[in-house]
Formats: sequence, structure tokens, C-alpha cells
Amino acid sequence: MNREDFPMLDKDIIYFDNGATTLKPYSVIDKMMEYYKEYSANAHRGDCDISYKVDLEYENARDEVQKFINAKYKEEIIFTSGATESLNMIANGFFKNIVEEGDEILITTSEHASNVLPWFRLANNYGCVIKYIPLDDFLHVTLENVKKTVTPKTKIIAISGVTNVVGDVRPLKEIAKFAHSEDIFVVVDGAQSVPHIKTDVEDLDIDFLAFSGHKMLGPTGVGVLYGKKELLEDMEPVNLGGGMNESFDNEREIYLKDLPTRLEAGTPNIAGVIGLGEAIRYLQNVGMDVIHEREVHLRNYMIEQLVKIPHIDIINLEADSGIVSFNVDGIFSQDVAYYLNKYDICVRAGNHCAKILKNATGVTNTIRVSLYFYNTENEIDEFVELLKNKDKIMKEML
Ligand code: ALA
Repeated sequence: MNREDFPMLDKDIIYFDNGATTLKPYSVIDKMMEYYKEYSANAHRGDCDISYKVDLEYENARDEVQKFINAKYKEEIIFTSGATESLNMIANGFFKNIVEEGDEILITTSEHASNVLPWFRLANNYGCVIKYIPLDDFLHVTLENVKKTVTPKTKIIAISGVTNVVGDVRPLKEIAKFAHSEDIFVVVDGAQSVPHIKTDVEDLDIDFLAFSGHKMLGPTGVGVLYGKKELLEDMEPVNLGGGMNESFDNEREIYLKDLPTRLEAGTPNIAGVIGLGEAIRYLQNVGMDVIHEREVHLRNYMIEQLVKIPHIDIINLEADSGIVSFNVDGIFSQDVAYYLNKYDICVRAGNHCAKILKNATGVTNTIRVSLYFYNTENEIDEFVELLKNKDKIMKEML
């Protein structure tokens, strides 16, 4: 669906690497071009008409994000360079100041690097303990396993909404409800969930959410940090500089601006933010429920065919998202990706930055297909056909 909106789909490729980054529609590209061509001034600084227009467009994008995730206040939306920066800000700007020695931080082995390494550093620097919520037989997180892992020392649960290799959809609302009853903070890495599933932060009642623009039809280099207002008020800016201070004097006193600008030091990625706003308009027009249903349909269509091929091992048979991770018996995942690339099919192979997942799956590398609503049944048929003959893969992979 909507394929005519994406210039990259005019090329003769099958794009199955949407977990890494998605394609961009004309409307997003045009909106960013419009900024560079028509009103290319700085934000929050100028006194001319074009800088007023920039502020308007920039803040419109913030409104779009607020509506999209149903945040209560506009000040709860902070623009960052992506989910990675958002998660680092949460760890280094907020939790650094409140964790104590012995506090436990719960993550899972299926998180990707950005939702592991900031917590490792926090734990290493402040004497906290990292604990892993066990995954069930389907590699899913259950409320029951969360409850089993929590102790009176648990301070933070940091988990993805959807993971990038297993594609499991986490029961965030139930986890947050339980966590808050135990005074535990809930941080959600939404990089793989926000682009695919309707996200309502009020309903989920999570404390922080991080996501990236480029995985949801927007440009690279822009993302969002959502936090409950009362928590963001206590967040220390990781970056200091222009735009975020009200004043400073030669006695080294610094007077900060209010949220959200306090946490957006320096010239922001203006074109990126405006492009992200347009991407959200596009997603809203298609409808997040339609997007999710379409992806689940495509995934099921692919799985139904792949399970019939004896030399294919799927590691995430049970998942409610568009991610399918598998291996071809006896063939290195990178070689399969290389073979598929010869037929202009883009997938990702390797550990996908989820480097401790192998502890749960026993599998170090996989081939990952990550679907989006613009993929088609025909593309899947072509892909499956190429995987049916193992001898052909062996012969052509090098
Ligand atoms: N985390 C991104 C992926 O899964 C880069 O591909």
C-alpha cells in the first residue's frame, strides 16, 4: 500500500530492512527541502519573518509528536538526535542523580546496545546491579517474569516496546502498573515500537520513552525523548550551551530556560524536526492500527511459507510484529544476505546490536527481515522462492 509515495520504491529493490531504517515518502523529503529553500533560518533566535516561520514549523512538529503519543504536556517532548541520545540523556541526566549503590536496574538480554550500554555505565559508575528479566520459551517478556525478578532494591525497568531481533511486543501497560506499585521507574525504548504500534503514553503510564525519526519515515539524526513533566523538571541537561540558558554571569551562575528548550542546547536539527513532524502527519493519515494490522498480515504470510522449507530455522515463530529472524541450516547469515542482495533484496544479517541475546537463543547471528506497511505479498513470494533451493544458495552465495 501507498508505494507510489516512496521514491526508493521506484528502484528495482525489495526493501526488508525497515528495522534498521525506513524509506521516506515524498512529503517528508519535500517538507525538508521547503525549509532549506524557503525559510532556512535558525530556530528560537531570530527577529525576522523567516525565523518566525521556523519557530512556527518547529513547534508545530512538537505538537504533532505530542498528539501522536498522547503526551499530556507539550513540554514533555524533547527533540534529540535519536533514541540513542534520548536513552543516554535519561541515564546520565536523570538517573545518575538519584541511583544509589546496590540499586537494581532490570533489562533483558534481547535489548539492543542503546538500551544496554547506558545502563551498564550507570551501574559501573554508581555501584548499581544489572539484572535480566528472563525471557519465556518464545523469547517474550511476561509480567510474571518481571514480578519474579523485582526485589525491594529494584529502581528502574528499562525495556524496549518491541525488540529488534525477536520482534516481541512487550506488555508495557501491565509492567508499568506493577512497577509503579513498587515505586520503580519504567523507561521504554520505543525505537522499534513507536513506528509500528499506536503508542499512548498516558494510557501506558510509562515514565520515559525514547524513539528515532528515521525508523518511522522521518529523517536520520532526529529523535524524541518523552518524560513525565515532573521527572523532566529534575533532569539535568547533559549538554549546556546556547538556546537553553536564560542568562549567565561572570560569577558562573547559570539560569536555565524552562522545559522543553532547557534540554535542547545548541542549534537543533531543524530540518530533521520539521521532517519528523511531516512523517507523523503521514503515519496518522495512514492510521497506526492499519499499519500494525498490515504488518502482522505480511509477517504471517511470510512465516506460513518459510515454515514449509526444511532448511530454514525461524528463531521467533511467535511474535506480533513485522520482524522475522531466521537462519539457513549450515550457511552463515551474512552469506545468505549476500546471496539475497544479488537479487536486490535488502535484509540485515548478524547480531543486530543485540549482542547478549545469544545467551537466551544460543544463536549468535541471524538473517532479519523487518517489514513495513509498504511491503507486499509479491515481494515475499519472490524472497521465499529464492530461499527454497539450498544448493542454489550455496552455489551463488560467494
Ligand atoms: N537497531 C537498529 C536495527 O535493528 C539499527 O537494525
